[in-house]
Amino acid sequence: MSGAGFPSGFRFGVATSAQQIEGAAREDGRGESVWDRFASTPARVKDRSTSDVACDHYHRWRGDIALMRELGVNAYRFSTGWSRVLPTGEGAANEAGLAFYDRLVDGLLEAGITPFLTLNHWDLPQALDEKGGWGSRDTVDAFVAYADVLSRRLGDRVKHWITHNEPWCVATLGHEQGAHAPGRRDAAEALRVAHHLLLSHGRAVPVLRANSAGAEVGLTTMMTAAEAASDSDADRDAARQFDGLFNRWFLDPLQLGWYPADVIADHHRHGRLAAPELPFVHDGDLKAIAVPTDFLGINYYSRAVMQAGPDGRPVGVPQAPPEDLTEMGWEVRPQGFFDVLTRVARDYAPKQVYVTENGAAFVDPPAVDGLIADPRRVDYLRTHLLAAQRAIEAGVPLAGYFAWSLMDNWEWAEGYTKRFGLYAVDFESQQRTAKHSARFYRDVVAAHAVPTVVPQYS
Ligand code: FCB
Repeated sequence: MSGAGFPSGFRFGVATSAQQIEGAAREDGRGESVWDRFASTPARVKDRSTSDVACDHYHRWRGDIALMRELGVNAYRFSTGWSRVLPTGEGAANEAGLAFYDRLVDGLLEAGITPFLTLNHWDLPQALDEKGGWGSRDTVDAFVAYADVLSRRLGDRVKHWITHNEPWCVATLGHEQGAHAPGRRDAAEALRVAHHLLLSHGRAVPVLRANSAGAEVGLTTMMTAAEAASDSDADRDAARQFDGLFNRWFLDPLQLGWYPADVIADHHRHGRLAAPELPFVHDGDLKAIAVPTDFLGINYYSRAVMQAGPDGRPVGVPQAPPEDLTEMGWEVRPQGFFDVLTRVARDYAPKQVYVTENGAAFVDPPAVDGLIADPRRVDYLRTHLLAAQRAIEAGVPLAGYFAWSLMDNWEWAEGYTKRFGLYAVDFESQQRTAKHSARFYRDVVAAHAVPTVVPQYS
């Protein structure tokens, strides 16, 4: 076993989200989400699939908790479906939906697994989108009311709350690039969306604390290490712009209470803002957004190497040959993980950091003797866990790590074509099968350290 290992009390977990695993799309009063609508719109999702059944976790959650016990994890990050709890996003709560999360939370606690609950993992109720969605300031109030309903119900048992998952994806992929639900292409709207997500986080934090005594509350953002393709001023500026759009536009307001001036200027220069000012920011908003939190959640998958495009916008340059990329086309780059963790600690001084997602999609072979060999995923986990350990040694207040994901699931616009699970899922039979990565993670958790030699699992 390697030297120091992880600190005592460290949380080892796995992560999932409601839309990607639950299924039971029209059961027990659940309302439609923007992702249901997106998936039923032709040509939006790669394999034309929907998440109507997904991993059928709504019915199989007991078995899925048993998988977590097999791994030995002490924490589980999941999300609640907003439209399962409030079918139209607001108004009267759906008792059957609340009862499902009650059972799940009780089941986790009985298994000795601490629930980390994400309120918004992208599945805005469709009815709210039709009223303007995240582009409307009214959605801020609706989100705070949803946070209130859920934390009143579960706040006695759930003590770790994440308001939003990756606001960048909702704002930019969902409203500027049209690649994610609700599929719009309006750069100005995307900036409003980002602001309303952040504001609703800030407003929800005191509500969650009031309803859940002693709770830890935070937000999860995706961080991508931004590097310049060369030392030229133009490429360095491209990396600055990318970092501004992707990382600082969210972290600066949350942790420092302002939007970065250079990125405001970029938005104006590239036509996302009519003037170099932010008309949607009202008095008091930034103070609300910068409410102190108990942790910052970081999702890390890869880095971006940027060069200047012809119009001055940043453009990504592939760094690895295609065969070395993950199935998502993402470079495997553990050093980038160390870099973002140390950077976030240095520039933003969060009280604690949780890595709320980290993992990789690869094509897996069929099982042999009930076990799937996935050496590249094992290696991804091993090298990233070592990077996390190095970050702790460098002083990052890292308190936990959640592997993405417990099991293969519905990967948004990629449908069922990308597999991130430690357990494989046969989506016909719903059978779960352990991969070597599940065994490896179990060994890490048991040893509280990363094995220096990967054991033979077959
Ligand atoms: C993240 C999402 C998560 C999953 C992974 C692969 O951006 O938060 O739901 O799709 O990517």
